[in-house]
Amino acid sequence: MNFHILTLFPDMIMQGLNTSITGRAIDKRIIKVNPVNIRDFSNDKHSRVDDYPYGGGAGMVMQAEPVYKAYDYLLNSIKQSKENPNDFQKPKVIYVTPQGSIFHQTKAQELAKEEDLIFLCGHYEGIDERVLDMIVTDYISIGDYVLTGGELPAMVMIDAISRLIPGVLNNEVSSEFESLQDNLLEYPQYTRPEVFMGQRVPEVLLSGHHAKVDAWRREQSILRTYERRPDLLEKAPLTEKERKFLAQYHAQNKNSDIE
Ligand code: ADE
Repeated sequence: MNFHILTLFPDMIMQGLNTSITGRAIDKRIIKVNPVNIRDFSNDKHSRVDDYPYGGGAGMVMQAEPVYKAYDYLLNSIKQSKENPNDFQKPKVIYVTPQGSIFHQTKAQELAKEEDLIFLCGHYEGIDERVLDMIVTDYISIGDYVLTGGELPAMVMIDAISRLIPGVLNNEVSSEFESLQDNLLEYPQYTRPEVFMGQRVPEVLLSGHHAKVDAWRREQSILRTYERRPDLLEKAPLTEKERKFLAQYHAQNKNSDIE
């Protein structure tokens, strides 16, 4: 998978992704991270890429031309890198913006199937709308808060997508059984020692009885989701028995502040 990032801060992208698990995946050539500096495509003698907004208002706006030129250069270089440039299909261009739809695990899974992805990172008050209309295919936000630029959101998405690509995680199964799988949160985890400051590891986990461990974990996932993220439960594929169990639990805990 090739991640291409149109950015004013290529070092920030590389410093963020060149470490830990994504760094190893880059070394192993399972993923490629290719930042393209939009500033290199400025026509201005001071390499400026922003200007005042038409109509007035606070802040500066990134100009259409350097963004378009950077995109055009990138698109051509991706095309030329393909064995068969004539069959080339334009990759998705994701503009990371608080105005986009919210990124989630299902979106990460969908994007992990692509061969190339282009992320466009804005700064200042945004990017001239005309170039966005021309090149952007997806508007995505990482949450309802405003950051200073698109680099961190792009890195968040690249991290979430990368770990779904076979070979990136050491343990192939570990991205399958995890938080948010089937809209359920992950069960609690424990490691040695058996007793920590008087607190014992749940007995069932020491039993060696796999079916019992699985049942306990499933129950914990459901309860944890009910308590921490009840909004997810509606979409979780629970069995009839599990729904009854949850209804009972709900009835017993009605008077607590978890509703
Ligand atoms: N740029 C600034 N804030 C953002 C956010 N919350 N998500 C995506 N891109 C952003």
